[in-house]
Amino acid sequence: MDSKLCVLLYSGGLDTSCMIKFIPEKYGYEVCTATVDVGQKKDFEGIRQKALDLGVKEAHLIDAKEEFVANYVAKAIKANALYEGEYPVSSALSRPLMAKWGVEVAKKAGADAIAHGCSGKGNDQVRFEVTISCLSPDLKIIAPVRELGLTRDVEMEYAKKHGIPLASKSKYSIDENLWGRSIECGVLECMDKEPPTDAFAWIVPPEEAPDEPERITLEFGGGIPVALDGKKMSLLELIVKLNDIAGKHGIGIIDHMEDRVVGLKSREVYECPAATVILRAHKDLEKLVSTRHENAFKPIVDQKWTELVYTGLWVDPLREDLEKFIDSVNDKVSGTVNVKLYKGSATVIGRDSPNALYDVKLATYEKAQTFDQSASEGFIKLWGLQSKVAGRVKREG
Ligand code: ARG
Repeated sequence: MDSKLCVLLYSGGLDTSCMIKFIPEKYGYEVCTATVDVGQKKDFEGIRQKALDLGVKEAHLIDAKEEFVANYVAKAIKANALYEGEYPVSSALSRPLMAKWGVEVAKKAGADAIAHGCSGKGNDQVRFEVTISCLSPDLKIIAPVRELGLTRDVEMEYAKKHGIPLASKSKYSIDENLWGRSIECGVLECMDKEPPTDAFAWIVPPEEAPDEPERITLEFGGGIPVALDGKKMSLLELIVKLNDIAGKHGIGIIDHMEDRVVGLKSREVYECPAATVILRAHKDLEKLVSTRHENAFKPIVDQKWTELVYTGLWVDPLREDLEKFIDSVNDKVSGTVNVKLYKGSATVIGRDSPNALYDVKLATYEKAQTFDQSASEGFIKLWGLQSKVAGRVKREG
């Protein structure tokens, strides 16, 4: 029989496991799965086997960890990417990469359609579909959870009926990768309630963290961390290590009210230990080597970059245009940053760079200083001139 083929972006979770049975039944497609490893702590072989057991035609696993770090996370570091000042866009960054691999698998398998398990209320549907339709406009996109209005309860029932194993009885909906872990659903939807400790898997509660602080040194080269405590390592390795170290000190819990692209305001909880430390250190070093004019302008570009990523417009040419500027500033972001990790806080306690614009001879209050203080007198007259005139006009008016 010559049936149509659909590639399903498969995580192994409840939504997408139901889709394996649902898509042939309701849409008449045969299913291939594509599962993209971006550093989730999961048994990927088990996920592949689960898909095969549920009757898919082919089950593809793609190890995209290196690619994720090099082409997505590294750019987010250089852009100091924090959506609404808080969220390191960890889930958002992974979606265009997953979509890209879904399209690759669809091309190889000769598929007609691509499916995802997102609901109609989140950002992920936007990120997947904008990317897919840009990379391969002829692929049909199927979104069964959204199109059929499926809920978690309905899916649970469906899973039981169709022999779909429910791997975990988690109270939460989790999405994770190397850059962070998003935790949603259950009691977290009550925005006035403190997230219970069982929501977190990477971070110990700050109050249970060690009583002794730990000091670490991050070395950056061209805006990217290249060594931890003097030991050179790949960015991937460094992030994995730092998630562990900072997590033990209770660092990286984020709890904020977020504005989704579809208009919803939602309470979002994340744990992002490595991202929290790296972004803080990067920003500190970037400020040290940049002029005040660069420091005033770059956050505007960074924010626009972050917004494009969050809102699913990774494929928009503006992102790469902005990166030309972001990369140019980051060329000089090299040096070391010392960070103290202690009971939930990561504090920068020192920094050094061959490109530092800090000149101790100019800045010092000691005798040997070289700053020409007499120049300040004339400067102040000109600096305040308009304000002074405005004051006079107001008084006389
Ligand atoms: N609010 C975050 C974002 O939009 C987290 C999304 C997590 N996705 C998920 N399917 N649980 O980036």
